[in-house]
Amino acid sequence: MGSLLGALLGGIVSEVTSLIGSLGQQQTNGLSLLGTLLLPIIPFFLTNNPLPNGFPWGLLTDSATNPYVDYPRTGVTRTFDFTISRGFLAPDGYQRPVLLVNGAFPGPLIEANWGDKIIVNVHNNITGPEEPTSMHWHGFLQQGMPWEDGAPGVTQCPISPRKSLKYEFVASLYGTAWYHAHYSAQYSAGVQGPIIVHGPTKSKYDIDIGPIILSDWYHLAYFDIIKGILLPGGNPRVFSDNNLINGKMNFDCSTVAAGDNTPCTNNAGLSKFKLQTGKKHRLRLINSGADGVQRFSIDGHTMTVIAEDLTPVEPYNTPVVTLGVGQRTDVLVTANAGGPKSAFWMRSNLTSCTSARQPYALAAVYYDQADTSKAPTSNAWNVPDPGNCANSDLSISKPLYPMAVPDPAFTQTMVIDFFRNASNIALWRLGGVSARVDLSSPSLFDVNQGNLSFPIEQNVLNFGSNSSVRIVVNNKSPTAHPMHLHGHNFYVLHEGDGDWDGSIVRPSNPMRRDVQQVRGGGHLVIQFDANPGVWPFHCHIAWHAAGGFLSVFVVEPDKVQQMHIPDTIQQTCRDWSAWTAVNVVDQIDSGA
Ligand SMILES: *[C@@H]1O[C@H](CO)[C@@H](O)[C@H](O)[C@H]1NC(C)=O
Ligand SMILES: *[C@@H]1O[C@H](CO)[C@@H](O)[C@H](O)[C@H]1NC(C)=O
Ligand SMILES: *[C@@H]1O[C@H](CO)[C@@H](O)[C@H](O)[C@H]1NC(C)=O
Ligand SMILES: *[C@@H]1O[C@H](CO)[C@@H](O)[C@H](O)[C@H]1NC(C)=O
Ligand SMILES: *[C@@H]1O[C@H](CO)[C@@H](O)[C@H](O)[C@H]1NC(C)=O
Repeated sequence: MGSLLGALLGGIVSEVTSLIGSLGQQQTNGLSLLGTLLLPIIPFFLTNNPLPNGFPWGLLTDSATNPYVDYPRTGVTRTFDFTISRGFLAPDGYQRPVLLVNGAFPGPLIEANWGDKIIVNVHNNITGPEEPTSMHWHGFLQQGMPWEDGAPGVTQCPISPRKSLKYEFVASLYGTAWYHAHYSAQYSAGVQGPIIVHGPTKSKYDIDIGPIILSDWYHLAYFDIIKGILLPGGNPRVFSDNNLINGKMNFDCSTVAAGDNTPCTNNAGLSKFKLQTGKKHRLRLINSGADGVQRFSIDGHTMTVIAEDLTPVEPYNTPVVTLGVGQRTDVLVTANAGGPKSAFWMRSNLTSCTSARQPYALAAVYYDQADTSKAPTSNAWNVPDPGNCANSDLSISKPLYPMAVPDPAFTQTMVIDFFRNASNIALWRLGGVSARVDLSSPSLFDVNQGNLSFPIEQNVLNFGSNSSVRIVVNNKSPTAHPMHLHGHNFYVLHEGDGDWDGSIVRPSNPMRRDVQQVRGGGHLVIQFDANPGVWPFHCHIAWHAAGGFLSVFVVEPDKVQQMHIPDTIQQTCRDWSAWTAVNVVDQIDSGA
């Protein structure tokens, strides 16, 4: 740790003796109750009877049921209404313009049972000025309905200002997921929230604590950050200002630049969690940040990992969980580190290979009889940061439902590199192309019409009828990247320094997930079984995706051609054409 950072953190921690925040919940997080002790345990996150309709998965289990085929068809629909609007919040005490779902940061929880249908009516109420949006349901497979994926320029046109789109999709996998805007880097301004899909679990626990959202945080508006990167001579290295747990952290306002008169309050208030002494709790960790890799821990407690992304895994114990952007980890924590009056720090550290001004997030964990106005005094785990921004060793993560990786029908190698184009603009390339989507002409629509010729800048790869495709990613940049593929839970075959040596970690049952880190100068080998559709494959660092770090996979186009895209989705393009006829879209970035 640098001495400057050390001094800053020392300042923050030594100031925290009382945990009575100086700002009200409405000022820091709007209508969100996450991170407060006001959060209702019932009916949310109730383990014994998660939702009306009980356990509709019957005899299906997490170890013996193939979730890609045999999910329950419950016939139950959960409906949500999301209005996206502008607002001003001070999550860490520094007030800034934000974009919010239903006035809340983090956004409202979507909760369903495995096999339910989820309907979300998304209303674009972003005005003053108007701005388009679009919502992605991260981790959902969207089998047979790729148009529900929410990627503008790929599966739909953006939702125009003052227009709405009804998304309708199936919770065919279960566990912890999230939603976020997929228009430019908009989600980093607050358009994001958690999703819980209840399903079978072999590892029993007593209480579901619900989502614990970890996110780096920026004081500058997202479009100003993008402009700073993508103007000629721009600086691609962006420093986050803070690190939040469930949208909260304190900030040292004395570090605000001279001349910046933005309202700033010290000691805004931290997130608080309550554990029942002796009981086993499920915590659902989500890295919803724009850039940083998180290392999460709770003083005095080891955690038992039971799921990574939407894959239940053989339980394993660890004091620290590492999450790249977009990744989720479900852990069990037993409150047995002291008596009922005990209190502990929860910590999430942005790793040393992340650009962060204040990398250390804190929250308070109280056993049932602890004084919740006092700050914990516990000592941190000291598990050295390996400094490579890699995920934990693949050999440790073993899916509960085993699947051997098939022989690939095709192998594609893709190089990641960074360059400056002839206009001196800093861009990323994936497979030799820096991508830019056409917001007015989604590639899914073209494929559906049988048109498979795309301009090079859309970076489309057509995998035809290949049943299983292996992707070898060679990272020629010194930076680590969280690689995300839409519409699939891919096999992670290998990851490490330098080039791939051809070996596979546990071919009889490799890890499966929807985001995996590739380290700087390293390689990542994944494989996916075809799910017909048109799917983005990209770095989940918001600033990198904006800088062209994206490609679009066309999977089984013959089947896509047989699909019928609903009129509601097609309407987004008619609305878009009307809106862009009188508004200029400042698409300085890749668009997705
Ligand atoms: C729409 O946005 C405006 C301005 O930001 C806000 O005042 C209004 O409450 C929003 N409407 C809804 C339904 O959220
Ligand atoms: C997180 O950062 C704090 C503050 O520097 C440090 O004391 C702690 O050891 C770190 N946690 C881990 C797991 O490394
Ligand atoms: C460089 O990239 C930017 C952003 O994609 C683009 O607008 C510009 O035209 C490019 N310059 C050249 C010379 O290709
Ligand atoms: C096929 O799609 C591309 C990309 O949208 C478009 O540029 C081209 O005009 C289309 N071709 C035909 C024949 O429609
Ligand atoms: C598999 O994908 C490759 C790469 O796009 C393509 O050239 C090939 O024709 C595909 N094979 C089949 C059977 O579609």
